[in-house]
Amino acid sequence: MGGLLGPGLAFGGDYNPEQWDEPVWREDDALMRQAGVNLATVGVFSWALLEPEEGHYSFDWLDAQLDRLHANGVRVDLATPTASPPPWFTLAHPEAMPVTADGTRLTHGSRDTYCLAAPAYRRAAARIAGALAERYAGHPALAMWHVHNEYATVCYCEQSAAAFRVWLRARHGSLDELNSAWGTAFWGQRYGSWEQITPPRATQWHQNPGHLLDFRRFWSDEALAAYTEQRDAIRRHSGPRTPVTTNLMLPGYQVIDLWAFGREVDFVGIDHYPDAPGVDAGADTAFGADRARSFGGGKPWLLIEQGTNTVHTAERTLAKEPGDLLRHTLGHLGRGSDGALFFQWRQSKAGAELWHSAMVPHAGPDTRIHREVVALGAALERLAEVAGSTVAAEAAVLWDADAWWALDTNGMPSADLDYHATVRRAHRALWEAGVTADFAHPEHDLSRYRLVLAPSLYLLSDAGAASLRRYVEGGGTLLVQYFSGVVDARHQVRTGGYPGALREVLGIRGEEFRPLATGATAALSDGSSGTVWSEDLRTEGARAVLRYASGSLAGRPALTRHAFGAGTGWYLSTRLDDERYAALLARVLEECGVAAEVPGLPPGVEAVRRRGPLDGRDTGWLFVLNHLDTPVQLPGITAGRDLLTGADVPGDGLRLAPGGVAVLREP
Ligand code: GLA
Repeated sequence: MGGLLGPGLAFGGDYNPEQWDEPVWREDDALMRQAGVNLATVGVFSWALLEPEEGHYSFDWLDAQLDRLHANGVRVDLATPTASPPPWFTLAHPEAMPVTADGTRLTHGSRDTYCLAAPAYRRAAARIAGALAERYAGHPALAMWHVHNEYATVCYCEQSAAAFRVWLRARHGSLDELNSAWGTAFWGQRYGSWEQITPPRATQWHQNPGHLLDFRRFWSDEALAAYTEQRDAIRRHSGPRTPVTTNLMLPGYQVIDLWAFGREVDFVGIDHYPDAPGVDAGADTAFGADRARSFGGGKPWLLIEQGTNTVHTAERTLAKEPGDLLRHTLGHLGRGSDGALFFQWRQSKAGAELWHSAMVPHAGPDTRIHREVVALGAALERLAEVAGSTVAAEAAVLWDADAWWALDTNGMPSADLDYHATVRRAHRALWEAGVTADFAHPEHDLSRYRLVLAPSLYLLSDAGAASLRRYVEGGGTLLVQYFSGVVDARHQVRTGGYPGALREVLGIRGEEFRPLATGATAALSDGSSGTVWSEDLRTEGARAVLRYASGSLAGRPALTRHAFGAGTGWYLSTRLDDERYAALLARVLEECGVAAEVPGLPPGVEAVRRRGPLDGRDTGWLFVLNHLDTPVQLPGITAGRDLLTGADVPGDGLRLAPGGVAVLREP
């Protein structure tokens, strides 16, 4: 079966040969061959070298590098260099430099020195993308196009303002509509002309929530337009057989709507750098990987960047333990990645990222890290047959950029409402239960899922509400968590009782939110307690499964269950501790018939399955990862051949060393 980019799995990383010279290139060739590298991402930040003066290109050096890689059997993920405009661009177009919300215009000297909405930048970016495509579309090394790098910047300049106004006219049609959508009657914010509207720059006091939300939507659309312009410039020269994509940012960044990008890229590519060790890194990897698979609609996808070891962040640098490299990579592969790329091949000795790890560390190839890289290359060759296979899930966690952006504004009833953390927690609880989960948008057809979780789905559009209703009516199980469905797509409260959009489906009516102070608890009828949030809630058809047990809410429902149509709507109005939350999920999973991939695995041991044809037969590959620092024996896994070792699983169950892994072709 073919993978995304040809037979087998992709393996390699960002390759920046312009930082080195001939003897190093020769060593790179030998080391790449030895490690089994078959894909190199080239040119990500090379704009100043490729176009040293406006309109004058210098391609000879890149010709030579691509020819050399090709001769060495390495295919190329060719990037457009638009995340790092050359110094001449800044001097010629000072108006295209980004401006922060407080009005500071940033200067040259780093990367991402541009405003995505600046016409001069957009023209220059599309031009270099087209020029690269014209030159290299037919190059035999070319495997894929990598547009830009991590769309993540935001700008509040006058050019952003102009583009924002155009976007607002298209969205709202008239100023009256805009004023009504944003509720500008409050605080006398009514706009009398389009020119009066600016990006939501720094203000004295709370900003208008509708304004903030629309700006984030606008900015995401602007970033997507910047992407599709480059993609189309490439397509004018490069045929449909060479896919075009971009590397999407880490899960915690929320500048673009990833569903929208998922629709426009030929396949999803992500960068992922877990920021915690041990089991947490396993959970984080699964979170990033499940998102990547979901944004692409379930197709295979590609891990475009990860670190071999330390990742420099503002706060600290997290070292990987021996074995982490293989296990983290398999965490991505098990969830659908058709390969593993790193940032970067050779560790820089100068420049802003000189302390970021690489496949060839500062100390050279005779190092633990490089040996693990070589071993990983060999492992990926043994796993070639999984390329192109897919992952299926029966559970989904709802994820919506609008809901995140809306919740992420000032003036919320509690500072402890955190969209990303709440979604991550829901996903993690499923991961710990051994259940593979997709992410889904509320407006998707959800009927293929037995269980859907809606954590902090603060904003819910009318279409989303109708979709969730259809889902439950049709037999689905929906578990909604507090502060969901309370505002509409304009960021206006749905009045008449909370959670407005879901009251009927959930059979409840909330009158009053009772956020809990940091550290405060609300006693519950089973002896446990909730934190963060509580509500004055009545049932209207639902059954109270748990009640508040003290204070003025004593006796009021805290957790409810409602039979609706052929399905069930659950509502959880407080934050349960980890143990009770897991117990609730276990109960709901059992009720709706969703089982773990492998029931009964110890906590910290992960199993996930890919499926696809092998020699004409439907085949399953079970990835089993021991994130613990102790050995485990797994009596629940008694069959299959480990592709990594060639050994059959013993009848008394798979054994894994501390941090150990297996990829079992199932009989
Ligand atoms: C991102 C970027 C890379 C590099 C790494 C370092 O993923 O795309 O260029 O900066 O971060 O972690």
